[in-house]
Amino acid sequence: MKRSLSILLVAVMLLTVVLAGCTTPSTGGTTSGTTTGTTTGSTGTTASGGDLIGVSMPTKSLQRWNQDGENMQKMLEKAGYKVDLQYAEDNVELQVSQIENMITKGAKVLVIASIDGESLGGVLDQAAKEGIKVIAYDRLIKGTPNVDYYATFDNYKVGVIQGKYIVETLKLDKGEKGPFTMEVFGGSPDDNNAYFFNGGAMDTLKPYIDSGVLVIKSGQTEMEKIAIQGWKAAGAQARMDNLLTAFYADENVDVVLSPNDSLAQGIVASLKAAGYGSASKPYPILTGQDCDITNVKHLIAGEQSMSVFKDTRTLAEKVVGMVSAIMKGTEPEINDTKTYDNGKKVVPSYLCDPVFADVNNYKALLIDTGYYTADQLK
Ligand code: BGC
Repeated sequence: MKRSLSILLVAVMLLTVVLAGCTTPSTGGTTSGTTTGTTTGSTGTTASGGDLIGVSMPTKSLQRWNQDGENMQKMLEKAGYKVDLQYAEDNVELQVSQIENMITKGAKVLVIASIDGESLGGVLDQAAKEGIKVIAYDRLIKGTPNVDYYATFDNYKVGVIQGKYIVETLKLDKGEKGPFTMEVFGGSPDDNNAYFFNGGAMDTLKPYIDSGVLVIKSGQTEMEKIAIQGWKAAGAQARMDNLLTAFYADENVDVVLSPNDSLAQGIVASLKAAGYGSASKPYPILTGQDCDITNVKHLIAGEQSMSVFKDTRTLAEKVVGMVSAIMKGTEPEINDTKTYDNGKKVVPSYLCDPVFADVNNYKALLIDTGYYTADQLK
């Protein structure tokens, strides 16, 4: 009896060791990277042979790209890939050298959210020579035939949502005559998206600007005048300071069209410093995009009027789907083959749907879906 018990014990131990061996990843482990990012090996199963996917993000300084990077890494690893995730501190040369490294390391697909959409032609020539496929992530890569797919949100629609909000809130479509004062901000001039956001909003607002219901006191509407390099909050704050001093000494500004949340942060800071937020100087209607935590707090505090929610989980899921299709040799899912001409080709694209967000629906959009916890927004 004793003997058969000990045989059983040994057998159980042996089985445990064998099973543990099966689940031990053959490759992997996480290694801390340089200050510019981290390189992480896959610890998942190797359904796709643990192929390396390079993910190049523009900067850690803006909340959304951290989420984008994290989501991409998590989902790609879950699908069995190794991931080289790098952030380039908004430095074009650094982004190019990080992509070169990914090529050297043998990446099979590159997923790139560019800093300057026009500056990657050279490094993508190298990628093409190695047969590496390239997906432009969120921002179009321009001036090169070596970009295979593009996944983004419907960027023109983002601007339309912002423009419509202004029209509906001021009841301009119901015959309200105003006039209302307005100023317009543009995104970074090296980011193709900036022109789409601006186009969607300004096409929607144009009839009311033309008829004089909306008055842009500075007269500044051209991208050369309104663009904020690098989407920097500080740049937007400085420009808003100048506008308030030069054109709004005796009159309030009623509307500020901001294409995104980082700019809106700078604009709110400027307005606060100029005494907005009181009964005689209420905050203007102020638009945004991304639902960054700081800006959702602005929505709750009544300092910003709306934002546009672009669920980075959806975008990451679509891009991981594209990567998997490419690796299997099948066609990725595409829903737009007309809009995004990069100067060399129309890049087959998948456009996700942006969603209007304000103080009334942020809980349902952001908390109930697990995007943020209620505590993060306190
Ligand atoms: C993105 C926006 C973001 C901006 C600044 C754009 O390309 O589409 O979501 O706010 O870059 O990072």
